[in-house]
Amino acid sequence: MPYENIILELEGPIAAIKFNRLKALNALNSATLDELKDAATTVAQAKEIRVVIVTGAGDKAFVAGADIQEMKDMTPVQATAFSHKGHAALGALENMRKPVIAAVNGYALGGGFEVALACDIIYASEKARLGFPEVTLGIFPGFGGTQRTARLIGAAKAKELVLTGKVITAREGFEMGLLNKVTAPDDLMPAVRELAAKMLAAGPIGIGLAKYLVNKSLSLNIESGLELEANTFGLSFGTQDQKEGMTAFLEKRTPTFQGE
Ligand code: CAA
Repeated sequence: MPYENIILELEGPIAAIKFNRLKALNALNSATLDELKDAATTVAQAKEIRVVIVTGAGDKAFVAGADIQEMKDMTPVQATAFSHKGHAALGALENMRKPVIAAVNGYALGGGFEVALACDIIYASEKARLGFPEVTLGIFPGFGGTQRTARLIGAAKAKELVLTGKVITAREGFEMGLLNKVTAPDDLMPAVRELAAKMLAAGPIGIGLAKYLVNKSLSLNIESGLELEANTFGLSFGTQDQKEGMTAFLEKRTPTFQGE
């Protein structure tokens, strides 16, 4: 699928998905969501890609939300479909068995904040501004914000954001537990690449299964979660990565993981 609203950059084992609708501060219209889902599915299936970075083009915005122009005259049926489209695209990031790092370089509002929350790790520039302004538009977050935020920081803090629409700084987001790291603007991509390098040195199957299990922990009770962990742990011992990782440790050498 040719992309008009995102750029997909492939560089060895790293893929970068970059939102690129500068005229609308990278706002998410239906076409962008389709492209995001396609790109996420493509990198999920590409064995050579082991880490995915999601960021925004330009120096102002990560993503300034869902496209208000496109949403304005939607019918209830169309708006439901649009929300489902957002869930599918963001779900493709959340559910792929590879780490996805959000590099939040500017405004991450509404649907943009929701994209970041669907990623596994969020690094943000000091310039980034985050929030859910949807209530100021007479709606509320529709791409997962009402569901993922409370799971991450608890219902009280989630409601403080979702019910007020207030926009917070990256530092405030970090203090609330929403972000993993805040950097100077020029340090954002180097910091993200340093994190990616750490993940590239580890076993891809182990990372993918660990992501799956942590995601599952949010919806399973502890008994079911532990049972799933035990069974998945057992499964990982059928992989070459497990054999290579442990053999390399005992032979005091660096492992070479094949993701098999
Ligand atoms: N949708 C459509 N267009 C948008 C947009 C959006 N979410 N955000 C910005 N734009 C457009 C503006 O309309 C403007 O276009 P024109 O030049 O054609 O007028 C252009 O991008 C530049 O924006 P501004 O002139 O507003 O830039 P600014 O620097 O003055 O302000 C901003 C930046 C504070 C981010 C402001 O643009 C803004 O508040 N944007 C909307 C943020 C928002 O409400 N997001 C939530 C959307 S609803 C949602 O996301 C629902 C959901 O959960 C599914």
